[in-house]
Amino acid sequence: MSRWRAICPAKLNLGLHVVGRRRDGYHEIVTIFQAIDLCDVLEGEAAGTLTLEVSAPSIPTDETNLVVKAARLLQDHCPSARGQGARLRLDKAIPVGAGLGGGSSDAAGALVLLNELWGLHLESSVLLALAAELGSDVPFFLSGGTALGTGRGESIEPLPPIADRMVLLGSPPFGLRTPEVYRALDAPLTARRANVTVPRLFVKFAKGNDFALASNDLEAVAFRLRGELVIFRDAVSRSGAEVALVSGSGSTVFGLFRTGTDVSSKAEMLRGEFPGWTLQVCKTIASGVRIVPAVE
Ligand code: C5P
Repeated sequence: MSRWRAICPAKLNLGLHVVGRRRDGYHEIVTIFQAIDLCDVLEGEAAGTLTLEVSAPSIPTDETNLVVKAARLLQDHCPSARGQGARLRLDKAIPVGAGLGGGSSDAAGALVLLNELWGLHLESSVLLALAAELGSDVPFFLSGGTALGTGRGESIEPLPPIADRMVLLGSPPFGLRTPEVYRALDAPLTARRANVTVPRLFVKFAKGNDFALASNDLEAVAFRLRGELVIFRDAVSRSGAEVALVSGSGSTVFGLFRTGTDVSSKAEMLRGEFPGWTLQVCKTIASGVRIVPAVE
């Protein structure tokens, strides 16, 4: 088989606590990652040079794209990858600057796809280390499902899958830039709170997926930067979500609902109230990036 497709899912943060600032400029965090079935698709075949085409014109296709960075990192790491190229096409479904990890998932997809296309046979521990070099969220996508993230978010410990949930995603017509959100964060305040809420969140979580205490320390910053996010979050809470939160550094707000809930009609209602927002209904999944042969 010469053409392969990497299915690259989005993630939510079912809770995110900033524990402190690190010497390297990053923040120490504790988070629960959850994969969902909103997916980008990266398809490709081996070729003489490396080329990337992207469905969304606003996304760069040059060396700044994380997919290209992943390819270059593999070539730096593996002598046998150096003379090789690939013709890649990325079909985006995950909003950009949304806190859903789209670019990170695409990067993880590129590592797995090119490992196959170039016959590199890299073990998962090596792929994990390369993923962590590409970005803090990238390692999560190699295993996906439900996982505890610590350190920068790159240190991953798989958790038992949560009971299936429906997810309502609301993405406003603007993104938020992760470095700016972290910069605007009031670190001393969150450090005090983290000590209290982290253990309670995880004890509750372990005892049957109780999300009532889930919170995101970056949310207050996102709300300060864009007040319309609070209004949307409150509307999702009122619609009966178990929890409604900003994902990661925003700008997407999500609500979790038990399976069987008619989430589509809630999305329809919110669409009327929030013109310009993209409302999507999806569900939690127990997997991460996976590759499948591409059929013509
Ligand atoms: O690791 P990644 O490249 O995705 O991070 C993007 C930016 O987000 C970093 O340059 C940093 O400003 C911020 N960040 C942080 N602490 C983290 C993760 C990201 O400060 N744990």
